[in-house]
Amino acid sequence: MTTQKTTGIVVHPASTASDWWRSAVIYQVYPRSFADGNGDGMGDLQGIASKLPYLRDLGVDALWVSPFYPSPQADGGYDVADYRDIDPIFGTLADADILIGRAHELGLRVFVDLVPNHTSDEHPWFRRALASAPGSPERDWYIFRDVDPGSPEQRPNNWESDFGGPAWSKTPDGKQWYLHMFDTKQPDLNWENPAVREEFRGTLRFWLDRGVDGFRVDVAHALIKAPGLPDFAHSREELLAGEISTNECPYYDQDRLHEIVRDWRTVLDSYDGARAMVAEAWVQPYERLVKYVRPDEYHQAFNFEFLETPWDAKALRNGIVSSYRSNDSVGAPTTWVLSNHDVIRHATRLGLKESGADDSIWRTDNIDAEAGLRRARAATAMVLALPGSAYIYQGEELGLPEVLDLPASVRQDPTFHRTAGKRIGRDGCRVPIPWKKDAPAYGFNTTGESWLPQPEIFGELAADQQHGDPDSTLEMYRRLLKTRRERGLGNGELTLRDLGENVIAFDVANSQNVTTVIANLGQEPVELPQDATVIASSVPGVTSQLPTDATVWLARN
Ligand code: NOJ
Repeated sequence: MTTQKTTGIVVHPASTASDWWRSAVIYQVYPRSFADGNGDGMGDLQGIASKLPYLRDLGVDALWVSPFYPSPQADGGYDVADYRDIDPIFGTLADADILIGRAHELGLRVFVDLVPNHTSDEHPWFRRALASAPGSPERDWYIFRDVDPGSPEQRPNNWESDFGGPAWSKTPDGKQWYLHMFDTKQPDLNWENPAVREEFRGTLRFWLDRGVDGFRVDVAHALIKAPGLPDFAHSREELLAGEISTNECPYYDQDRLHEIVRDWRTVLDSYDGARAMVAEAWVQPYERLVKYVRPDEYHQAFNFEFLETPWDAKALRNGIVSSYRSNDSVGAPTTWVLSNHDVIRHATRLGLKESGADDSIWRTDNIDAEAGLRRARAATAMVLALPGSAYIYQGEELGLPEVLDLPASVRQDPTFHRTAGKRIGRDGCRVPIPWKKDAPAYGFNTTGESWLPQPEIFGELAADQQHGDPDSTLEMYRRLLKTRRERGLGNGELTLRDLGENVIAFDVANSQNVTTVIANLGQEPVELPQDATVIASSVPGVTSQLPTDATVWLARN
């Protein structure tokens, strides 16, 4: 090929460290919606255990299970009422032990979800706090402030809940405010209190003793609030647009939270095996985010770059370069994420015809579903070739779209309700998984119950319809994951190639082989090099040319 040249830029050197998590592909299970063993319409641990062979055959290294703890389910289980037990809707501790044991037998590691920023308001700690007097040690587990009798509606500061509306609500007796950065049913813990810290050390040990391989840590950037709880001087819009550094926000990314992380790291390091923690930290810029993955802190942090990057080669390439540059500066692996339980599924997001400022863009007529799926497959094929660790959200391997037309009456996400529907919320990516076309609830269970209605398109996308079809999204994921493993892509050295502005191209090299990856985001087909063999692609039938919105992996001859 004539235009082909390398840029000469090694964007990322090969990793010499062999810790499993540096290159692991980790599959996120959202238990409410994965598989339902008892037929009540809500997924459960027995359901997850029954699907472990599927995950092994998919070719992932580990699963991360979103919260399964006792919870009123005001925020899909991210409102925990007991950190050391299982909610009866999901099963029992014995079921958790079976799940962890079976996963290990199949060579799969298990992360559980730690939710340290807040508890449920039904947690005994919060109940005990409310039952005690203002100023008591029991109240000091949370963040309370007196109501000013002179201006009883004046909140202690201007902080907004992440789910919309103010971040302060009154106690039932009306005498104090309590802080909740999320729903009113999720009071924030006071991490200045040593007793809170001790409790969580115990919770880490509780799960590590049961054999888990690590933790995904929820809102890892919010644990410490700025002294005196000052007003936020900027707007949420400025924060979301990345116009300010996260630590300018008094409830995010405060430097002192790192002492807590270092403390947890010593707990994990005192266990055998390579236990690991991944931070869910919505932090910007990268210089701030990489503080979380310094050698004595988290092992990984989610890299949310691609959740927000449009389908644009330059923007994606910049994301790749800056992700490596920053993570490499502290010796941490980069992670790659295209979907999770909090965002619009990427098969839909990438099919957006016109973008807009608010959630009304997610109208069904503003989505080109075919282009979305095609691009989602191309994006996945690019991401799974990138050295580092990758996360897969349940159902993306089936090419599931976001379910956009759920009626308001079935929606459960507090974001939807707290904003009176202005924000569409996250139910659409949480609809129960279709396993079989011709079965009740598409094989989610045997009774046909489903806590959210499944759309008809789930029939043709069901796993049994895709199994064995070489052109299906499921078989593409399997092929990519198998090839990634065989060729050691997760640990390779990455060098960018310059194939024009609408193409992302790079080599991943290790001592055994060189793989060239080309993603064509332009309108014109791209000629493929003749000294290379196609080993995988996001669309069928790629030989000498790569069509638009497609990715190919090539073995260099
Ligand atoms: C992040 C979780 O991923 C999300 O689902 C949850 O609502 C918030 N944290 C609050 O726990």
